[in-house]
Amino acid sequence: MSSDAQAAENAIIEAFDVRKSFGDLEVLRGISVNVEERKTMVIVGPSGSGKSTLIRCFNLLETINSGEILFEGKPISGTDKDAWKTRLEIGMVFQNFELFGHLTTLENIILAPMVVKGIGREEATEKAMALLRKVQIPEKAVSFPDELSGGQQQRVAIARSLAMEPKLMLYDEPTSALDPEMIKEVLDVIQDLSQEGMTSVVVTHEMGFARRVADRIVFMDHGQIVENAPSDQFFDGEVSDRAKLFLEQILSH
Ligand SMILES: Nc1ncnc2c1ncn2[C@@H]1O[C@H](COP(=O)(O)OP(=O)(O)O)[C@@H](O)[C@H]1O
Ligand SMILES: [Mg+2]
Repeated sequence: MSSDAQAAENAIIEAFDVRKSFGDLEVLRGISVNVEERKTMVIVGPSGSGKSTLIRCFNLLETINSGEILFEGKPISGTDKDAWKTRLEIGMVFQNFELFGHLTTLENIILAPMVVKGIGREEATEKAMALLRKVQIPEKAVSFPDELSGGQQQRVAIARSLAMEPKLMLYDEPTSALDPEMIKEVLDVIQDLSQEGMTSVVVTHEMGFARRVADRIVFMDHGQIVENAPSDQFFDGEVSDRAKLFLEQILSH
């Protein structure tokens, strides 16, 4: 098997010829890609190329028009009555944190485990505190989101996702809304999780992070995957002219 071939038996997500339109606009134009267990995929590409839409399809936040997406070998669809169960297995972190503003850090983290999984408050709190230590802000347990910096809020959002013990974490430009000095603290958390074996898909423009952490880089443009390569090959090998141009543009910023 060449280094480029992807082994389907290790795939947690398999997408086949996925198409998605908003009205007349076809945003995903035949996407086929596998996300392998315990690996980290970084998705890069120009604004509007369909990156968010693709990972929202993985998470069933969008329904697809055609093609198929398998989660652990089973077809999934946003219209299934069991879609919510699949959604629980997948954590998602957004650019703007999306914390509940009227709840403390701790309450943000224990809410879903208690309400959705029926875990008792004490156990949920214990787990939440362990997660807050992991993201290095246990002292913020009783703070409200507006008392936290952006970097701290994003780390709470990550802890909140982890509290549901997801099999896959999706990050949609997790550091794009942060001041530069806070980017590293969030990327370090994502990197640690990734190195512990959390299967991850990260949409980001942070190419240093991508190079350090990604197993594969997927480059999207106009709703298609233009490159899907092991990280070292993407950065050191031959890439398409479109990918080269994109890299030059973002690296010159
Ligand atoms: N809910 C929506 N309704 C209509 N158009 C949308 C919607 N979401 C995304 N789009 C359009 O789909 C295209 C791809 O968007 P998106 O997946 O957000 O790209 P990216 O994340 O790569 O910037 C863009 O042209 C965007 O305007
Ligand atoms: Mg996006």
